[in-house]
Amino acid sequence: MCGIIGILGNHEAAPILVEALKRLEYRGYDSSGIATVESEGSIDRRRAVGKLVELQDKLVFQPLKGKVGIGHTRWATHGEPNEENAHPHNSGAVSVVHNGIIENFLELRHELRCDGYKPETDTDTETIAMLCSKFIDEGHEPIDAARKTLLKLSGSFAIAMLFAGHENLMIAARSGSPLAVGYGKNEMYLGSDALALLPMTKKITYLEEGDLAILAREGVDIYDHLGNLVSRPIKYLNQSTNFYDKSGFNHFMEKEIYEQPVALETAIKSYICDKNVGAKINLLKELNFKEIPKIILIACGTAYYACYVAKYWIEKLAKIPVEIDIGSEFRYREPPIEKGTAAIFVSQSGETADTLAALRYCVGKAKIIISIVNVSTSSIARESDQVLEIHAGPEIGVASTKAFTCQLAVLFLMTLKAAQDRSEISEINIAKTVSDLKSLPSTLNQYLGSTNSIQDIAYKLSTASDVLFLGRGLMYPVALEGALKLKEISYIHSEGYAAGELKHGPIALIDDSVPVIILAPCDELFEKNISNMHEVIARKANVTLISDKEGLQSAGSIVKNTIEMPRTNKLLTPLVYALPIQLLAYFSAVSKGTDVDQPRNLAKSVTVE
Ligand code: AGP
Repeated sequence: MCGIIGILGNHEAAPILVEALKRLEYRGYDSSGIATVESEGSIDRRRAVGKLVELQDKLVFQPLKGKVGIGHTRWATHGEPNEENAHPHNSGAVSVVHNGIIENFLELRHELRCDGYKPETDTDTETIAMLCSKFIDEGHEPIDAARKTLLKLSGSFAIAMLFAGHENLMIAARSGSPLAVGYGKNEMYLGSDALALLPMTKKITYLEEGDLAILAREGVDIYDHLGNLVSRPIKYLNQSTNFYDKSGFNHFMEKEIYEQPVALETAIKSYICDKNVGAKINLLKELNFKEIPKIILIACGTAYYACYVAKYWIEKLAKIPVEIDIGSEFRYREPPIEKGTAAIFVSQSGETADTLAALRYCVGKAKIIISIVNVSTSSIARESDQVLEIHAGPEIGVASTKAFTCQLAVLFLMTLKAAQDRSEISEINIAKTVSDLKSLPSTLNQYLGSTNSIQDIAYKLSTASDVLFLGRGLMYPVALEGALKLKEISYIHSEGYAAGELKHGPIALIDDSVPVIILAPCDELFEKNISNMHEVIARKANVTLISDKEGLQSAGSIVKNTIEMPRTNKLLTPLVYALPIQLLAYFSAVSKGTDVDQPRNLAKSVTVE
């Protein structure tokens, strides 16, 4: 999704804006631009298609002056990714950057055309600038013009505006897409998220839905959607900025794959009390799952596959029926929400529009709204009754890795708590299972120390055009996730399937050009997986079997490519088998030379529907 930066500073803004935009690159983009109000009051801008280095090159030969400016990385929604459609968009005395979608922009453009304002681009954002410029031409001051403009917009947006002749004014508005204000020493900042503001300030305020912020170097006035002057809480960020350092890895995704043991340890420790004997699970203490007749788990993408794994865990251990769905479908099927239901929303960013909209559908219907997020200050977290942080640390690579395993860890601990509340699990069993969970980080650490065989298999995968991932039980959602990982960063078409479904259609795909990855820990479903393996080998498939030592020995030499996994508590295999599928995707993408951290067309946080 688009990234927004604003600076009302005492130094030349252009280089600082570009540096801040670099910290928003992880969101995914296809063009960028900045605009400044120069000292004599005129507005000027530079824009470039492609990566930020293109904009930097332009600024070397055509520098921008001015100590107040706005910047933007664009993920195209309306209008192809080119320089003309890149933000900022100017009209008259107004310059605008925007994240989101203005749903009524065509109607507004028509009205503006009738008033003599001719659009120059295909974007919805230009309409905002034209509308505000029209109100200024009619004699309104910038703040009133901005207010009148916002009243005409429908859709979701985060907006920052500059005005020619106003060297100490920036106007920001939030409706559906996040925006944070940062406080400096006689300077003020604006950012789509706190990560971009961190190197400039740790003191920030998140705008709420419907807020309008009037920034000057001296401070900010924030008005709510009713026009009342409000004070929003000031937060002090404690994140270090080194998360933007690849720490010697080639990509953020690689770094985040190898960070998983540490991230998992942090996630697990934050919800386990070791003080007394055994293990006290320290989450959702005020909630007794005995009173919860049903759980719904809603998410998108990788987070949804974490929910899928959790469905198996919760129904098996806590004996609570679980409904799962993807955010983009859930609310449109208008599902009845049973009295007493716990609605749980899983989201790394906490800003995914489809998941947030599903959460809002459940407000007033579910007994409790719980979110499991990586960003505790996110919109989804702020609109939940209870928040469970996954403590994965900032995840910069667009492809979710450590967030997935940390989501699983928190969902598993929540499952154990639910089973405990409902007396479905003995204290001894809890202690044993928690002990297995706590030993997982070191198990993963050892495994990550010896992954060479995966690179060879991945390089062969990278030449395929169709790949099939198969799994049963807990490995079925992991197969789905493996297919998503591979397709989203290597652009290879891949599908995850329940292995038992093979004979109901997908086996027609199989021939010697289709690699099949089979996820099969040596458990009660192993033999059935091996039968499926023989079915595809008989049709010349190039099979990779991912199993533990016992499983590989039992499978025998018929399978050529194998990946050996450590043996663990069978309930925890999704956290273990997540690693080889991440590494297969990573090394395949490296072999293909795709943009691993910012795959084409993708964004880290999808804040539009
Ligand atoms: C996963 O690798 C993708 N980047 C994507 O599917 C992601 O999981 C999805 O967009 C949900 O994001 P969220 O967890 O921030 O809500």
